[in-house]
Amino acid sequence: MTLEQSSQNILLEKFNETRARTLELVKTLEKDDFGVQTAFYTSPAKWHLGHVSWLNEIVLSKITNNYEFYSDEFSEYLNSYYNQFGKPHDKAKRGIMSRPTADEILEYFEIITQKVRHTMQTSLSDEASNLFTMAIHHECQHQELLVYDLQHLLADQYRPVRKNQLPKSFDVERKSVKIDGGLYEMGYSGNDYSYDIEQPEHKVYLNDYEIENFPVTNGDYLEFMNDGGYEDFSFWLSDGWDAVKKNEWNSPMYWVKIDGEWFTRDFMGERKINRDEPVCHVSFYEASAFCKWAGKRLPSEAEWEKAALWNSEKKEKTIFPWGNEQPSEKNTNVLESYNWNCTKIGSYPKGVSSYGCHQMIGDVWEWTTSEFVGYPGFKSSFDEYNDKWFTNQKVLRGGSFATPAMSIRGTYRNFFRLDERWMISGFRCAYDN
Ligand SMILES: [Fe+2]
Repeated sequence: MTLEQSSQNILLEKFNETRARTLELVKTLEKDDFGVQTAFYTSPAKWHLGHVSWLNEIVLSKITNNYEFYSDEFSEYLNSYYNQFGKPHDKAKRGIMSRPTADEILEYFEIITQKVRHTMQTSLSDEASNLFTMAIHHECQHQELLVYDLQHLLADQYRPVRKNQLPKSFDVERKSVKIDGGLYEMGYSGNDYSYDIEQPEHKVYLNDYEIENFPVTNGDYLEFMNDGGYEDFSFWLSDGWDAVKKNEWNSPMYWVKIDGEWFTRDFMGERKINRDEPVCHVSFYEASAFCKWAGKRLPSEAEWEKAALWNSEKKEKTIFPWGNEQPSEKNTNVLESYNWNCTKIGSYPKGVSSYGCHQMIGDVWEWTTSEFVGYPGFKSSFDEYNDKWFTNQKVLRGGSFATPAMSIRGTYRNFFRLDERWMISGFRCAYDN
């Protein structure tokens, strides 16, 4: 079966839009910026550009007889972790390679763009279309990772091509909302794209619970810090306390204390902590310790999802907290809002969920207590993409100010290790009632 011409045109449009956004993110970089890796968990910009192109070559190789890769040397360097495609290059050493050069990678990016465009203008099978769609969403994931890595490398030295004024924030009362327990159908069941890990939709049982209508702010987190949060083992999981000691953590990542005041350094520059922004760059361990200190807990991902997507009056689930319309700068802070920063709580009254929870999509990814594992009945749609990470990771929900709009949904499951914090990660608290 082949795709209708119109859906093929939409696929091509999404591909073009995604490739253009990747290039826009690196447009203002200096050549010297492209190859630098600032930590073992970051990657050079040239690697991201090459890797997302290589994944399109993987798709081409699966749908074309006797496909010849552009270069074995490129393929080896650009393979992230797929053992099925050869021995991957050491992730921590992506920045020590001066070859392929940034120019060679940019040329490669363009050649693969043309090849994929050409293929998308021929008749595509459903399988080919699904694989190309996955490659587009994969590229969106790398755009977000690239933003994390650009903050680590350049912070305010990075000059975004587009930057908007931060939206005005409104005074909204901070409170927790009560949510009835019972059976909830969790996961994705729509007709658009979702990752295999969001499916199948399945029933989970929830007790009654309460969840806060806003994420935890820098101001809240400062209270925890000022109350000796990082000095008292009793708030911490055992592994978390080990991480505090080993890494000498005494604040979220990027925070520094200057003359008795806390500053952070991000795309806005080095600046005083804004008490009204969601706390950001905290690990699962820190989120968990804060909750214990506050006498609260993190929500499970099912609790988070129900609070975000369920309308108890209409008895229906929506794709986003505000309904089924695509994200826009009116209702959420995602990459295309071009804020380049978390917005203050109360900045998106139009993005509120039917239960009254704000900023669940965009701004910061929110840690949940849930282990990252397959849902009951899980079937992998691409080997080694998601399912091989089903150990030692926690699920985060909701997307961040660096998540491309086309790639976020309320059912989207992100996952990181418990001590990672260079990503845009925050949390909101829940309670039992
Ligand atoms: Fe990747």
